[in-house]
Amino acid sequence: MTADEHRPNLLQGWFPYTTIPFIANASMYGFATAELATAVSRAKGFGFIGGGFDFAAQSRQLQELDSELTKARSLLKITALDEKLPLGVGFITFRPVGFVENVIPILLKHRVAGIWLAFPTAGADHAPIISAIRATREREGWNVRSFVQVGTVKAAKEAVEQGADILVVQGGDAGGHQWAQGASAIALVPEVNDLLSMMGKATEVSVVAAGGIVDGRGCVAALGLGADGVVMGTRFLATIECPAPLFTKKTLVSITDGASSTIKSRQHDVFQSTDFWPVEFDGRAVIGPSYEDFEKGMSDSENVAKYNKARENGNDERRIIWA
Ligand SMILES: Cc1cc2nc3c(=O)[nH]c(=O)nc-3n(C[C@H](O)[C@H](O)[C@H](O)COP(=O)(O)O)c2cc1C
Repeated sequence: MTADEHRPNLLQGWFPYTTIPFIANASMYGFATAELATAVSRAKGFGFIGGGFDFAAQSRQLQELDSELTKARSLLKITALDEKLPLGVGFITFRPVGFVENVIPILLKHRVAGIWLAFPTAGADHAPIISAIRATREREGWNVRSFVQVGTVKAAKEAVEQGADILVVQGGDAGGHQWAQGASAIALVPEVNDLLSMMGKATEVSVVAAGGIVDGRGCVAALGLGADGVVMGTRFLATIECPAPLFTKKTLVSITDGASSTIKSRQHDVFQSTDFWPVEFDGRAVIGPSYEDFEKGMSDSENVAKYNKARENGNDERRIIWA
């Protein structure tokens, strides 16, 4: 198969209950809840619940995930436990210890249809996780597929070698965390498709595009680039089903010109004290008072103190709005 030939629609085979083109909400931890994911799935998209990053046995995040999945079952009125849940769960994987032992059993119990992995690091890659998913799939007759979010061709190659079924090709316009050194989806999607052809995997691995897609125009463009579907994150934040604070939603619908109103930087994590992220990744967020102060030369410690004080006082203005 050459890069110009059409790939069979793998996504329709794996998820026949979804529309063409395939549309998913991004796995956004803290934002993509059972309510959002089931609303997307009910509309014949593919919903994802954000599952977090703490894979210790019985961690608070995993307990919450179990209850979110139970809630999703009840919202979709799927009561038989052996019946599949037509949605997925996504994870942030730079600390993968415990995933195989503690996460996979929860996902199997709820028979989710997709598992999304993103942000691995060198030496802590997805290979053991994907192998375990594949082995459990065979052993249990569990119809589940692995999605891996990638921001470079190198990451895409690794994901394919490790057994990913679907690549979520994330361009630098994306809201939230992403590869610090990346490219736009417009460059990456064709490059990743060429890679699949070169690896002889174009009929086995599907590609969906993410990053800056908000409407039909972006979706059509992604299909034109060779994607089989799209993932949208920011677009779903200002919805009734999303638990984002009102301040975040109001800001998102009022700002224009994303090129000048958002910025890709590691500073956002510094302000909100989540700068434990590996150096390979940064994030795109709305330029707010914290970033403006940083640009004027304010020290990180003073900026963090201001952020914490505002939050303590219930003031949302310094909140980081990934978008
Ligand atoms: C608020 C927010 C939270 C996000 N959280 C996650 C996450 O937990 N895991 C993840 O893999 N990606 C996360 N992302 C990135 C998305 O997976 C996706 O790549 C991005 O939303 C696509 O770009 P768009 O926002 O322009 O649609 C997040 C994005 C946003 C906007």
